[in-house]
Amino acid sequence: MGRVANSPLDRSFAQECDAADPLAGFYDRFVRDDPSLIYLDGNSLGMLPRATAERIGEVVRDGWGRGLIRSWGHWMARPRQVGDLLGHHLLGAAPGQVLVCDSTTVNLYKLARAALGARPGRGVIVTDDDNFPTDRYVLAGVARERGGELRMIHTDIDHGVSAGAVGDAVAEDTALLCLSHVAYRSGALADMAQITRIAHDRGALVLWDLCHSAGSVPVDLDGCGADLAVGCTYKYLNAGPGAPAFLYVRADLQEQLHQPVQGWFGQRDQFAMGPAYDPVPGIGKFMTGTPDIIGIAAVSEGASLLAEAGIGALRDKGMRLTGYLIELADAWLVPLGFRLASPRDAARRGSHICLYHPHAVRLNEALTEAGVVGDLRAPDRLRLGPAPITSRFTDVWDAADIIRRVAGGSAPRRDEVLADGQP
Ligand SMILES: Cc1ncc(COP(=O)(O)O)c(C=O)c1O
Repeated sequence: MGRVANSPLDRSFAQECDAADPLAGFYDRFVRDDPSLIYLDGNSLGMLPRATAERIGEVVRDGWGRGLIRSWGHWMARPRQVGDLLGHHLLGAAPGQVLVCDSTTVNLYKLARAALGARPGRGVIVTDDDNFPTDRYVLAGVARERGGELRMIHTDIDHGVSAGAVGDAVAEDTALLCLSHVAYRSGALADMAQITRIAHDRGALVLWDLCHSAGSVPVDLDGCGADLAVGCTYKYLNAGPGAPAFLYVRADLQEQLHQPVQGWFGQRDQFAMGPAYDPVPGIGKFMTGTPDIIGIAAVSEGASLLAEAGIGALRDKGMRLTGYLIELADAWLVPLGFRLASPRDAARRGSHICLYHPHAVRLNEALTEAGVVGDLRAPDRLRLGPAPITSRFTDVWDAADIIRRVAGGSAPRRDEVLADGQP
């Protein structure tokens, strides 16, 4: 029997999906110097929005160049204003609970240390052994500083942390549970509401790492009763390399928590240069030093683009893009030795997936050569993240097609790849 027209395996199917995609208009709002490049690593470093390049130029030229130090008059409020923007559109957080500041690593330290201080008599921090390295390292350091213990949940690296495993690990001795909402490797999505409830039942606080979920899946921090969260802005928020991170502290916890990095930007009457640290009330005390104003401008532009697209539409497209990639992988790549190393159920994953292959290192090099940029999670997984605001269904089809050709030993050369990405 001949092939059915417009089967998902035909490129025309992907073209039809693109034609019907309500987010298709965002494609050209990003800088695309090389139209043949297939970029599936927006979950590591998001693309540059055209508006951001302009906005940064303005901040540098007008705010810094012309306004000089006078610009601090309006710059001072930016960490909080852009935090509220993120909170409202992407994190499910009411105003006054989110700040854009520091790096994710530094914010993790600040909030984990503060959480332990707020649970005297409890010395245990719980995380999982496949949590992102910086989380595990920071938490181990905090546990050591406090004379406590870091308890690891053993995790299936393809399926992520289950609520049951959390229930077994968090006990009356636990001050803090810290997990990634979307696992950095497999993309497995944790059940924030259920896991938060389990930890609260045992009297522990919960700190969520939202690096791979902010901007890719709807997050409802207030609705889930979450205590604390951190996340970066250079992945799905497209704010650029090293752009400042964000932190969330639930309103009613802010007075109880002591911020361990007692910087002057958290100080009451900051420019009185007083003799002793006396923090402002509210979220402001979680500031440390001088905020990165240029970086915050990029966060603001990135978040505004996502807000315009709508997190519901982004989530819907993210599930469809990864679902399509899995469908093509099942048909073309599994026979070549690949295996899906992420949850198959779209509701259980974020916007990236992993494909296991014993020669993933070599394949990743060859794919980069052929113009498909994903990344490698050593030693044996290709990680592919079609970011919903920048990726097309045809990108997914082209990437899967190139992967099968590379793995099958007939890799296209870059000069064989046409401008629309199709080899
Ligand atoms: C889940 C997760 N947490 C934390 C980080 C690192 O944060 P940073 O290096 O920005 O402090 C990353 C970076 O990729 C990450 O994926």
